[in-house]
Amino acid sequence: MKRRRYCGRNVWLIMGRSRDFSISKKSFISQYNSQRPIDWTGCFANAQPLEIEIGSGLGETLLRNAKANPDRNYIGIERDWKRVKRTLRKIKGIDNIRVLQVDAHAALARLVKEKTINRIYSLFPCPWPKKGHEKHRLFSCKYLRLMNSRLMDGGSAQIVTDYLPFFDWICGQVPGTGFRMEKEVTPPRFDTKFERKWRATGQKEFYQLTLLKNEHVPIPLEEDQELKAYFLNSFLPDSFECRDITGEESIILKDFIFDAKREKGMIHLVVSETDITQHLWVIIVKGKNGWCVAKAEGHTVLPTKGVARAIKHVAEEIKRAQENLTE
Ligand SMILES: C[S@@+](CC[C@H](N)C(=O)[O-])C[C@H]1O[C@@H](n2cnc3c(N)ncnc32)[C@H](O)[C@@H]1O
Repeated sequence: MKRRRYCGRNVWLIMGRSRDFSISKKSFISQYNSQRPIDWTGCFANAQPLEIEIGSGLGETLLRNAKANPDRNYIGIERDWKRVKRTLRKIKGIDNIRVLQVDAHAALARLVKEKTINRIYSLFPCPWPKKGHEKHRLFSCKYLRLMNSRLMDGGSAQIVTDYLPFFDWICGQVPGTGFRMEKEVTPPRFDTKFERKWRATGQKEFYQLTLLKNEHVPIPLEEDQELKAYFLNSFLPDSFECRDITGEESIILKDFIFDAKREKGMIHLVVSETDITQHLWVIIVKGKNGWCVAKAEGHTVLPTKGVARAIKHVAEEIKRAQENLTE
């Protein structure tokens, strides 16, 4: 048991060995600073079969698999930074794991080439059980097709869930995805945070779907776009207007700030595309060639079609507002 020492004014010092909070930086891959698609052979010490875990959580299975199979390389995809950090703390000394903090849609669509992965697996993915929330579920027909395209011929995928309606829903998505499926009811055997959680509630059976690739579905990579700058003759900040674009792909204005002294403005937008939602800052600044509208330096976004479109949209909206004023 840890000893505690009272330091006064309700402050307690916990005595004992300090915990190691350092992380394995070598094991982390940034989607922003890496070449896209990612060259996995350059990421790992050895070129060996690749497995991806989607929603790797605290990295428990990732670590176990990597230790048990040193002749394979493991990639954890997890969008929650706190969980990524906790995984990275445990990896030190294990060479065949890399972790990315990225949404699983963008990861496969933009970072992983066709026919490069041997196996994809996901344990207890979020089931989104509420009515109307189905749209948030991973493993839709569209996503299964993307998984198929990134798997090598003969590759396979495995999904395990605690929630039977979600399992049935995924099974219903499989036709037309180039997979043959095998269903199985399995006892608890993965010992992950979420399996332990359901076990503690008394659940003894889980549902496993194995998908065997028997036909290739070609889906080309979503490629990086050039983010152009636009030049305008005039800009009146008081008349700034930027209409939202709504729908499946959307551009929503969040904020506009302008520094009159420095003749510089910043526009904050949220850009949503089918596989990714990003915050974008666009700068408008007076220079030699007039007013320049461009992506602001110093913040990271993936240069997607939506981002390129958003910068152009801001420039067009500013132009439109000026023209309306002069009419
Ligand atoms: C229910 S937890 C399961 C975690 C782990 N597999 C386990 O069994 O303990 C689902 C995990 O998937 C992650 N996740 C959900 N949707 C995701 C997405 N679209 N892209 C990447 N990770 C996602 C969540 O952040 C969470 O860590």
